[in-house]
Amino acid sequence: MAETLTITDNRTGKQYEVPIHDGTIKATDLRQIKVTPDEFGMMTYDPAFMNTAACKSRITYIDGDKGVLLYRGYPIEQLAEQSDFLETAYLILFGELPSAKHYDEWKRNVMLHTMLHTNLSKLMEGFRHDAHPMGMFISTVGALSTFYPDAKDIFSAESRRLQTLRLIAKVPSIAAYCFRHSIGRPFNLPDNDLSYVGNFLNLLFRMTEPRFTVNPVLERALDVLFILHADHEQNCSTSTMRAIGSSHADPYSALAGAAAALYGPLHGGANEAVLRMLNEIGSKNNVPAFIKRVKAGEGRLMGFGHRVYKSYDPRAKIIKRMADLVFDVTGKNPLLDMALELERIALEDEYFVSRKLYPNVDFYSGLIYQAMGFPVDMFPVLFAIPRTAGWIAQWDEMLNDADQKIVRPRQIYIGSGPRDYVPKEKRR
Ligand SMILES: CC(C)(COP(=O)(O)OP(=O)(O)OC[C@H]1O[C@@H](n2cnc3c(N)ncnc32)[C@H](O)[C@@H]1OP(=O)(O)O)[C@@H](O)C(=O)NCCC(=O)NCCS
Repeated sequence: MAETLTITDNRTGKQYEVPIHDGTIKATDLRQIKVTPDEFGMMTYDPAFMNTAACKSRITYIDGDKGVLLYRGYPIEQLAEQSDFLETAYLILFGELPSAKHYDEWKRNVMLHTMLHTNLSKLMEGFRHDAHPMGMFISTVGALSTFYPDAKDIFSAESRRLQTLRLIAKVPSIAAYCFRHSIGRPFNLPDNDLSYVGNFLNLLFRMTEPRFTVNPVLERALDVLFILHADHEQNCSTSTMRAIGSSHADPYSALAGAAAALYGPLHGGANEAVLRMLNEIGSKNNVPAFIKRVKAGEGRLMGFGHRVYKSYDPRAKIIKRMADLVFDVTGKNPLLDMALELERIALEDEYFVSRKLYPNVDFYSGLIYQAMGFPVDMFPVLFAIPRTAGWIAQWDEMLNDADQKIVRPRQIYIGSGPRDYVPKEKRR
């Protein structure tokens, strides 16, 4: 028997049967609920989309209560242990793990596109010396649309494939140029014989040596961090990617918008906020007083809490293990002891326990990035590189979904009723 939800409208006494599919009712099925025929019909009010599914997706599954994260069905723990970022990106984008042959082709094709057009680097040279790298990143990704006008052909699978290669290949180059610009050093050229992440480290850190030597521990650590950040279903930036893409804008413009959403401190800026918070706290002794202030509502414990995870973020567990390996190479980040103490106290404290506030992915990632030599301003940029894979996969899925239309939420108007215009001289 088909599942339905029976709704009784006590304004009219009428009953409605609304079909249930996948544990969900269609919001538009509520429109038939009216008191008078000329009414618009019943809507749902859901600011911040707390309980609204905006799409059907096959990409990423999260069970926030159990702390489960799957990309295309594969557990994040197994991918972090056994895969690399380029393979995971392929999985997210195309739905399956590549065969050895397809992996080699994919890697070769991505690495062919790592170079940036000279005019793009000239454009980047125009930023002020102290420009925030994320601001530079957003603008430069947006500018890519002017270099590749063929990207407007969004309904050509071939064009989408080419823009995907370009984006996956060029975001590390753009990110590295942002970094080099802010420290006043010349841009490096890609070394395509290195791995995806090895080349990124070369673009960032090579000085005068003819060939950059990649530290394998740092290379692997960054690769794992990239795997962990590659997708996270319908978060703020991904919803932005889908929303902009729904107007049929080209993928570079849509991705610049998604990156802008990622910039905010409640999303991709959170690990930067964690480090600022740790610096403000100053020492382990000040941790209890800081927790007290948070509990009194005077600020948040950054890197704690998540809209979806109501248990330990599975990515945070992997990152915490990674941190030890990185600190063996770089030396311990002096802020680590404070972070561990904050976590220890918070996990025992009724305020955090009752609200199911646990460390999220950003709590430890900033400490690793800082130990690797990245300034805090680069953190959201480092997030945007792997998330590019997720953004493109979600954009592509949206374009191929017959249920999707241009995004256009409704509102409940609570402003003034109709009134006559008053000339300036007659206004009070
Ligand atoms: C991620 C975040 C935005 C999710 O927010 P949300 O799902 O909208 O949760 P809410 O803001 O409704 O918070 C629920 C309760 O927990 C409290 N809370 C949530 N996160 C908190 C934090 N980091 N520190 C202290 N209290 C927190 C809220 O004050 C609220 O308490 P109340 O019910 O007494 O008012 C939020 O937890 C946060 O701001 N965390 C810090 C920023 C961060 O680390 N972001 C990265 C996410 S990957």
